[in-house]
Amino acid sequence: MVSTAKPRWEQAIERMRCRVDQTLESLQSEFPHWAEAATGTWTTTVDGDWTGGAWPGMLWLFARRTGSSRYLDAARLWSSRLEPRAHLQTAFKGFGFYYGVALGDILCADKDAATLALDAAQSLKGQYDPRLGLIPLGGDAEESEDVGNCFSSIDSLQAVPLLFWAAEKTGEASFADVAARHTTRVLDIHMRPDGSIVQSSELNPANGKVVRHFTHKGFSESSVWARAQAWGLVYAAVALAHRPQEKRWMEQLIAGADWWLSHVPPGLVAFWDFDDPAIPNTETDTAATAIVCSALLKLGRLAPSADLRAKYQDAGELTALALINGYLTPVGAGETRSQGMLVGACFNKRRDARVRDSVTNAETIFGSYYLLESLNVLDGLIEAEKI
Ligand code: GLY
Repeated sequence: MVSTAKPRWEQAIERMRCRVDQTLESLQSEFPHWAEAATGTWTTTVDGDWTGGAWPGMLWLFARRTGSSRYLDAARLWSSRLEPRAHLQTAFKGFGFYYGVALGDILCADKDAATLALDAAQSLKGQYDPRLGLIPLGGDAEESEDVGNCFSSIDSLQAVPLLFWAAEKTGEASFADVAARHTTRVLDIHMRPDGSIVQSSELNPANGKVVRHFTHKGFSESSVWARAQAWGLVYAAVALAHRPQEKRWMEQLIAGADWWLSHVPPGLVAFWDFDDPAIPNTETDTAATAIVCSALLKLGRLAPSADLRAKYQDAGELTALALINGYLTPVGAGETRSQGMLVGACFNKRRDARVRDSVTNAETIFGSYYLLESLNVLDGLIEAEKI
């Protein structure tokens, strides 16, 4: 077992708190989205885009951790600002309304957050298409192209945590039923037999059959975009936390985690796409790596044997250490940036005119969320499978 360096987790959390404080002071009404690693200046979005919920998510974590009304008030304010997105037709709203809003209920018993999260969950459940057997990306989905009601992606598993939370909050089984169907179908469509994951698919609207696989943000349709692998792992783990009896999901989660661990470079931080021919002279994706860190720590609690639990717990700890030692500022002598920026994320490597958010070596608000969540798990504030 890796020794649990608790003070190290605490110190990293304190570094991230410096950055959260600085971000709080710098923002007006728009949500942090990504920042250039060199400057730390946030690019913001008016309504939060798919990423914005990560920001109140970090504030809820600090509210719970510190008990300070400063973070609680800020979390409530930023959470409420997501309200205009509650009825958008996008599978990705599950991300914002789970981490940005439902976490207010889970971590801080906030009633307004619970009400808003349930409103979004009700709308999200209504996006389920029984012919396709899943929630399609939706006409308002935030990708560069090819979205709508015939398209799916592994990223759309972002719908799953909000729906399972809503099922537990209300006792209405229909939320969990849609979450389970969506999980099964999206994993089956996008996971290859070797445990690697392709990002995107087009479906025949008449019968749900897969027309083609492709990628919105990866290198190619036959490559492994690091965040495709990461999203598949973390949401398979969340789904299993709610339905531990689903053997197929567990087999897929273990296959996907083992694929990651046997392909990630020795330093444990992934390149943006595992098949970029320029490797090692290409960009890392610390956001993908932080998402996988969260998934490994969950698997460290959920895997079916003590040996497997120890294996994935150790891998999660080592991944967190790789991120905080190599990519969480300060990362070198003479550092002038704020402490606690997780740099080295690749939001989008593609640079053609239709692509949004083409930026590499960035700090992303969602990558930072998953590292902060993982550190709070390692530090013992929250249990990995409860979030
Ligand atoms: N669409 C989610 C992502 O860019 O990771």
